[in-house]
Amino acid sequence: MQLIHTIAELRAALAGQQETAFVPTMGNLHSGHISLIELARRHGGPVVASIFVNPLQFGAGEDFSRYPRTLQADCAQLQVAGCDIVFAPDANEMYPEAQTFSVHPPLADELCGAWRPGHFQGVATVVLKLFNMVQPRYAVFGKKDYQQLLILKGLVRQFNLPIVMLEGETGRADDGLALSSRNGYLSQLERAEAPRLYRLLRAAALRVESGDGDFSAIEQSVGDELTRQGWRVDYISLRSRSSLLAPAPDESDLVLLAAAHLGRTRLIDNIECSRPV
Ligand code: PAF
Repeated sequence: MQLIHTIAELRAALAGQQETAFVPTMGNLHSGHISLIELARRHGGPVVASIFVNPLQFGAGEDFSRYPRTLQADCAQLQVAGCDIVFAPDANEMYPEAQTFSVHPPLADELCGAWRPGHFQGVATVVLKLFNMVQPRYAVFGKKDYQQLLILKGLVRQFNLPIVMLEGETGRADDGLALSSRNGYLSQLERAEAPRLYRLLRAAALRVESGDGDFSAIEQSVGDELTRQGWRVDYISLRSRSSLLAPAPDESDLVLLAAAHLGRTRLIDNIECSRPV
């Protein structure tokens, strides 16, 4: 496995490759990321993982400075997983000048975007730059970041990028908590409480699947229960799986998305469900 820090070296290493499979990350890898590498390995030629904590996607007061940087440990895991190239540029390599061009995706102000202004603009902009650097045939993203995945699929489609988007299922701990680098911020007590989010989402999804059409009551009951248990809820929202907008009356394929803070840690999760129509 090669560890590469510059775009020039990356381009030289990938020259002539038509089937590169790419897994963009911000590092601090866990088994959820590793399953994305495994998915990439099943599809492409060389597998490239990028590790870059992208300042553009963090708002003021968010966790950019404390976001864990664990390059050595990440490389060890990537090597075992069969990754071929780790691309770990520094901020100067990614942004040698102020990034005044940017991508402002639709849905950027919805759901997480409403609570993290500028976040999806930062994500879409850095991913477009990474795509131009790596020029992959395949790119792999996890469904845990459901809104990010939908936005990036739109980016690829609408800008006609010759990239096949692959979706990885959300990795979960045995108690159901979605794997996330931010879980490392949780205290022991918070870690024990954290699986409640997915438990409540599962129960709510069952209500939808059994024909309960009162979506706002369902969303409200999840939010109320979290609040009772000391969480601070950003949103609980049932949306169309394909557009992430409010579902049309005859739309069956839905996704329930949630974001809530447990202490200083903001957790997100989602569950797909289908209502009988
Ligand atoms: O999902 C992430 O880790 C980041 O948002 C991404 C896609 C690597 C862009 O910085």
